[in-house]
Amino acid sequence: MNNLNIYQLRRNQLAELIFAKTGGGVAVISTAPELTRNRDSEFPYRHDSDFYYLTGFEEPGATLVMKILGNGKNFQLESHLFCRPKDSEREIWDGIRLGPEAAPEALGIEYAHSNQELDQTLGNLLADEDAVYIRLAESAEADRRLRHWMKQVRGQARSGINPPSELHDVEALIHEMRLFKDVHEIDIMRRAAAISARAHVRAMQVCMPGMREYQIEAELLHEFRNSGAQSVAYNSIVAGGANSCILHYRAGSTELRSGELCLIDAGCELDGYASDITRTFPVNGKFTGPQRALYDITLAAQEAAIAMTKPGNTFMQPHEAALKVLTQGLLDEKLLKLSDLGSLDNAIETAAYRRFYMHRTSHWLGMDVHDVGSYREATQDSSTVEKPWRILKNGMVITVEPGLYVRPADDVDEKFWNIGIRIEDDAVVNDSGCELISRGVPVNADEIEALMKNA
Ligand code: GLY
Ligand code: MN
Ligand code: MN
Repeated sequence: MNNLNIYQLRRNQLAELIFAKTGGGVAVISTAPELTRNRDSEFPYRHDSDFYYLTGFEEPGATLVMKILGNGKNFQLESHLFCRPKDSEREIWDGIRLGPEAAPEALGIEYAHSNQELDQTLGNLLADEDAVYIRLAESAEADRRLRHWMKQVRGQARSGINPPSELHDVEALIHEMRLFKDVHEIDIMRRAAAISARAHVRAMQVCMPGMREYQIEAELLHEFRNSGAQSVAYNSIVAGGANSCILHYRAGSTELRSGELCLIDAGCELDGYASDITRTFPVNGKFTGPQRALYDITLAAQEAAIAMTKPGNTFMQPHEAALKVLTQGLLDEKLLKLSDLGSLDNAIETAAYRRFYMHRTSHWLGMDVHDVGSYREATQDSSTVEKPWRILKNGMVITVEPGLYVRPADDVDEKFWNIGIRIEDDAVVNDSGCELISRGVPVNADEIEALMKNA
């Protein structure tokens, strides 16, 4: 396996998994469709992550077909890429296409064909194969195509050709692979996180009372694109004052006011990989007493969660550590009443904190911001007992993002009203615990104040 590119290595790895499962088969994975935004304007094109993971090919209109030929002991892999044919007229309008002639050399793929031949060729590729691996229930269009291919193979029955008899989900296999990031991926993710961190620094530096949320968003976007990131990894949240308590708020036109907080959850996508950072800072550069109290609780919760982000711990342990610190903090600040709840343990058990902290502390991060991969261990036990939470291992990447969100209410001290805080960093699990790849932006309240003061 000399000089194989990372995509060839991944295809081989997937082929090995398929060989182990069914002794061979055919896998079909298409990229994402182009989407119309309105009338004849399109959304910026974004490839499908699974497809890109296996090909490194970013053009729309493409399908990867992997034929795994097993002989009981060994297997051979033949990969076919179906892509848009060269078309000098269309290329004037839409840009250069790689085309099937250049694709094998450029992508290290065995065979390439025009995508117009997909339907006709699949009938042959599926002939006499038992197992087909597709993304189950992907779309009505994918179902229609599969029916068409099956019909073609069935049409050859009298020539002694049998159609496939088993459908398998290819997604679960690819997603398990994607859960563990290789050196190449971690390198990109480090660079993506560094760009996003710089964007957050820039936002803190320019922020002033009287600015609007969208102006801060513009600063973030400037830093992303100016640094070579192709896109945002998700819609940026820039939330001033009461908006900070809305979890999926977008950057709007609210004015940022002195005495209020600004919560920014924003990250770029670089070379197909997401970063995901949240910082919360005072619009005028100085935390008020109540803001600082809740900020320091949230930061302590994040530190506790980070300390639990290490190989051998479960995915849930960082969350549980964060919950403990947050809930104790809520009791200390009398946002939760010890007289009602009795104890910290009871406050956690009864989920009393949920009023102020209603999301999980972590999710996988990778090509997709809420990345793929099972959060539960696979077990052979098919009983109804819940599968155990995933054990963290080297190469997994998770976010650590505790928060506190206090909306106005009669039974809540007014000094805390409309304080929404989240602190989010990206952690690569490694031998010694984890590496925080997003700390190019300060997280400590004093350091944030110093940065804003010196801006
Ligand atoms: N930005 C999405 C999230 O933090 O999960
Ligand atoms: Mn986020
Ligand atoms: Mn996140």
